[in-house]
Amino acid sequence: MENKNTESGSEYKPVKAESVLPTKTVGIESLKESNPETMSPHRNIFKWFARRPTAATRLAILASVLPQSISNEELLNLIGIGPKTEINGNLTNYVLEKFASKDNRNGSIEEHFGYEYPHRNVPSESELDEFHDQLRSQWNGELPTVIDPTAGGGTIPLESLRYGLPTISNELNPVAWLINKVILEYAPEVGSVESDIKRWMEEIEDYVSNELEEYFPHRNGVAPSHYYRAYSLSCPSCGDRIPISNRWYFNRRRNAAVYPKFDDGDLTFEVIDPTKVETREGYDPNQGTVSGGDAECPHCGVVTERSDLVEIFRAGNYDFEVCGVRYEEEIGGTKYHSPSEADTKAIEKVKEKINSDLRLSTLLTAERFEGYYDRAVPYGVEQWRDVYSPRQLLTHATYLEAFEEVAPEIQSKYAESKAQLILILLSFIPVKLISRNSRLNPMSPDYGSPSDMLGDNNFSFKYHFAESNQMVGTYSYKSEAKNIIGSYEETAQYVSHIDEPAIIYRGDASDLPIDDSELQAVVVDPPYGDNIVYSEISDAFYVWFREYLGDIFPEAFSSQETSKKEEAVENPAIVNQNNNSSNGDSAREHYENKMRSIFTEAYRVLEPGGVITIYFTDKEIGAWDSLTMSIMESNFTITATHTISSESPSRIGVQGQSSADTSLLLTCRKPVNPAQEDTQPTLWSDIQDRTYEAAREKATDLLDSDLNLTKTDVIIGAFGPTLRVFTEEYPVVDIHDNPVRPKQALEEARKAVTEVLIERELEDSLDEVDSLSRWYILSWLVYESESIPYDEAKQLGIGVGVQVDEIKQDTKIWGKSGDTLVLKGQDYRVRDYTALEAGEKRRERAYPVNPQDTSFDYNIDAVHAALNVLETKGGDFTWNWLKERDLQNASWFTKTVKSLLQVIPQDHSDYDLLVNLASGETGQFLDIDTDFLSRESNSEQTRTTLQDF
Ligand SMILES: C[S@@+](CC[C@H](N)C(=O)[O-])C[C@H]1O[C@@H](n2cnc3c(N)ncnc32)[C@H](O)[C@@H]1O
Ligand SMILES: [Zn+2]
Repeated sequence: MENKNTESGSEYKPVKAESVLPTKTVGIESLKESNPETMSPHRNIFKWFARRPTAATRLAILASVLPQSISNEELLNLIGIGPKTEINGNLTNYVLEKFASKDNRNGSIEEHFGYEYPHRNVPSESELDEFHDQLRSQWNGELPTVIDPTAGGGTIPLESLRYGLPTISNELNPVAWLINKVILEYAPEVGSVESDIKRWMEEIEDYVSNELEEYFPHRNGVAPSHYYRAYSLSCPSCGDRIPISNRWYFNRRRNAAVYPKFDDGDLTFEVIDPTKVETREGYDPNQGTVSGGDAECPHCGVVTERSDLVEIFRAGNYDFEVCGVRYEEEIGGTKYHSPSEADTKAIEKVKEKINSDLRLSTLLTAERFEGYYDRAVPYGVEQWRDVYSPRQLLTHATYLEAFEEVAPEIQSKYAESKAQLILILLSFIPVKLISRNSRLNPMSPDYGSPSDMLGDNNFSFKYHFAESNQMVGTYSYKSEAKNIIGSYEETAQYVSHIDEPAIIYRGDASDLPIDDSELQAVVVDPPYGDNIVYSEISDAFYVWFREYLGDIFPEAFSSQETSKKEEAVENPAIVNQNNNSSNGDSAREHYENKMRSIFTEAYRVLEPGGVITIYFTDKEIGAWDSLTMSIMESNFTITATHTISSESPSRIGVQGQSSADTSLLLTCRKPVNPAQEDTQPTLWSDIQDRTYEAAREKATDLLDSDLNLTKTDVIIGAFGPTLRVFTEEYPVVDIHDNPVRPKQALEEARKAVTEVLIERELEDSLDEVDSLSRWYILSWLVYESESIPYDEAKQLGIGVGVQVDEIKQDTKIWGKSGDTLVLKGQDYRVRDYTALEAGEKRRERAYPVNPQDTSFDYNIDAVHAALNVLETKGGDFTWNWLKERDLQNASWFTKTVKSLLQVIPQDHSDYDLLVNLASGETGQFLDIDTDFLSRESNSEQTRTTLQDF
């Protein structure tokens, strides 16, 4: 086979990623990690967004650098998957079997699987030596250096480091950069600091309790832990006080709710058990006074609309209310109590304190950047201090003051890096707590404790919130410290065998401080579109870190907020500022340009033949096209693609759209002999067949492997070799000299894979079947479900010549639900035969298929009609019905029936009808060989569903 790269006489030594990978096994392992208790401890040291599981991360790194000769079994063992003892048969089947039987296990998940979570596991010293030898043989005698240019919370560089690889981490955001410093630099260098930290913590806690005790009055000697806080304002219509909250439940499971009481115009709050106490009509603890953004006055009934409500808040015409108090210990049989007079007085005292203290009255007066998704600024949350109630601000400021008291002593007592580490960890504790102690974190009605301010990865205003006494209980300084220190200590253990810490850069990935051709591997998990605007949400932490650590790291914290413009995200707020246009397109363009420069920079720092593996979670074809475009424009050659189903369902994206639950790995190479500038374009027709064949071959390999891959895995896996052909020939043009986009090659790949699937999984070819019916059968075949991601189904349609949007209305063969396309069955499509006979005129809606017709537009219509007739009129009647239409002699008909039988799941309502049609009374007549039915039900079904653990 000829291509530009081999023509010039160069080839890469293939890496493991350029072969079939055990992705299913790794996906299961990654799912096992989706609980806070089972995930790698570095994730609990400080919050970061969109972190990746250990197993999948290791796969991405190891497969990028190991030679292709390593077996899947060896690779899995190296990742930490599989028991140390001999097992029967192959490891993938072992893990699948353990996964399938996990719900009936005795003991823990780890006992059940027979090995620990991968993050608790690294290869022994001798195994590492062997691993390094393998790497040296692949990389000219040296260990390859791995860089992650958008390192986030540091998962990729941490794993690279743990495997003893020279590692570089780069990250733009100062908050994430701090996390990287801790786990990749200080942890291996300084190690344990537990006893030191504890000592300083005590001093801080003493200082704080001296200062704060009086603002958190005890009840019967018991300290309060949380307050239910809401608002009140005066009704624009009648002038009485309206309590403001969108829910009154304090803790639903404990039957504790807030009850606003009105007495002579006075507003007070009581905590009641709404199942026992009689309340006034209209009170519902599940609802507050605000619903759909509007507030109803309980006195005069007049509704204040959202826009007016926003104005009232913005103008500051509201009061903070304490509506209820939670104690850690039960007092008189419960933990939830009405606020006392002392509680209201304490609030007054806080106000006085803030007004009289110069530092407090000027702390965090920086204006907040108003992000595109920011729903708090309009309510007057304009400066960072506005994010807190006065007592919350006092609390956070007091911890800061206490830190400032001990900091100089720490700096003088320890060597520089140890001092810095201690100071950073001491700042992590209170700063992490701010997301549980602000006006933007509501009370969780199921736990009676604070939710996370950034739970939805954006800022939205809340009509009620949880305030903490950080001196006790859940989300206290102590509990958070325990969590952070424990997680740090464990992480430090994980890197205790490492002599050389990672190199850590803070900056833009499109401008790295690294020489040309220096590195061997880039493993990167880039930001994706507008999923998360990291800079914006991390400002909540950044502004505090600036106060805490600004003197120690003046450069990192020089600006008031994080900088937004270098960030590779789709952020309409930024492009609007720059060019006054308000369209999302320019945001998209900014993102794509930025990604292209990040790839170009990766290309520059890689040596010829170097590998880049891009790890991202989107399976939309649109994203494939633009991603592959930017990779090609950076001159990389794509060599392999893989999918890992690993994201936990809870990691649903933001701003209404979900990030896909599948991760993709794209492996690319910097060509050994980079293409010359004046490369002649290749004609698409010259390589079209090769793109098809490459996918065909790969699909066959994947299906022949014993790795139990899903059909989607096979399609995406087949993209790799196709894209390789395409990118090696890039630029590609059609006969009119117009550029051809990668999506055209991907269409070839889909076509090739579906052909292979038809040949292997269906008894008959679908040659005689019309394209719409073909698409219907293929959709069932590939996705094994009536719900299919819309974009995928659409692409599948293009492959067989069907525009799914065009056929929707007339055929009603599918419906849309969000981003999902739902395949319809006969009951939805066929007008009921008996109703027709009865001459019923009134039709609820138009059915596309009329079973009284003698001929049908599509093969699938004839089959659906037959199923309906069979269901409503029985076997004898159907026999005649078929005969009248001569369907028993139409091989397209029997082939469609037979294929449907092989693809429609057994629990679908059409399935039994199909069986009946093929093998019941009408079966003999139709003469369909149904032997395969018994074969299928005997063969064990090994489909696993990836449920959350
Ligand atoms: C998907 S996250 C990485 C998460 C990481 N793999 C983990 O497990 O924690 C992407 C990161 O890219 C960073 N980023 C965005 N634009 C960047 C740029 N221009 N240069 C460097 N990093 C950037 C974001 O701050 C974010 O932390
Ligand atoms: Zn009123």
